Amino acid sequence: MTNKIKYFIANWKMNGTNKSVNLHKKIVKFSKKKNFNSNIVYCPPITLVRSFQKIFKKSKIKLGAQNCFYKDQYGPYTGQLSPKMLKESGCDFIILGHSESRQQGDNNNIINQKIINSINSRLKIILCFGETLNEKRKKITNKVISRQISQALKNVKNKNNILFSYEPVWSIGTGNVLNEHDLKKYLLFIKKLLISKHKIKKPNILYGGSVNSSNIKTLKNINNLDGFLIGSASLKVNKFIDIIKKTYN
Ligand code: PGA
Repeated sequence: MTNKIKYFIANWKMNGTNKSVNLHKKIVKFSKKKNFNSNIVYCPPITLVRSFQKIFKKSKIKLGAQNCFYKDQYGPYTGQLSPKMLKESGCDFIILGHSESRQQGDNNNIINQKIINSINSRLKIILCFGETLNEKRKKITNKVISRQISQALKNVKNKNNILFSYEPVWSIGTGNVLNEHDLKKYLLFIKKLLISKHKIKKPNILYGGSVNSSNIKTLKNINNLDGFLIGSASLKVNKFIDIIKKTYN
């Protein structure tokens, strides 16, 4: 089996228990199948990273964080975690700019700071961006995406370790996915933007928002798509494996 889809990122959000982590042992065996050539990354709450490390230690499955503080290293910031601390705790990836974090106050400038510090701490970034329903209705999706990406990448020198995840806000957790025509259109727009304006030779572009084992059959064939950011459908190991499997058939 080979696959054009290179990344399957599980975004567990504020979910999961130690018991539920153990149920995911099953994916280790699956990831060791002959010709399996994709990357699986779990982004659980930090409280579960240790448990995941135990079950993934003999596999290539990586771990990621879901956000961080905008300053790096250490300091008097009660309740915060820096990129350096996340890297030290075993995370290789970090989700930044997720709409749920933007709703909690992350703006493009803060996201930019977080990206710069996360790169310094050798984390790979999963940068999320996308329009709200209101912006979609106003037909300003391209403008919104372009602004979010430009401000996030301000003064970022090394962009090679950034995955670009297009997540329309109205599609997250709702069961609504973009129609094929629009998704193709926006992915092409994003790709061109990253290549021409941001000088990234081969950008990796992901899609996130209500990805499940039914719509994956259509989504997997769409051009300019290198992976998926999967929320609720990644919480159950069988569902998650099923999504990955279907991209291989
Ligand atoms: P969802 O979440 O798959 O549950 O829509 C995706 C995300 O928020 O990353």
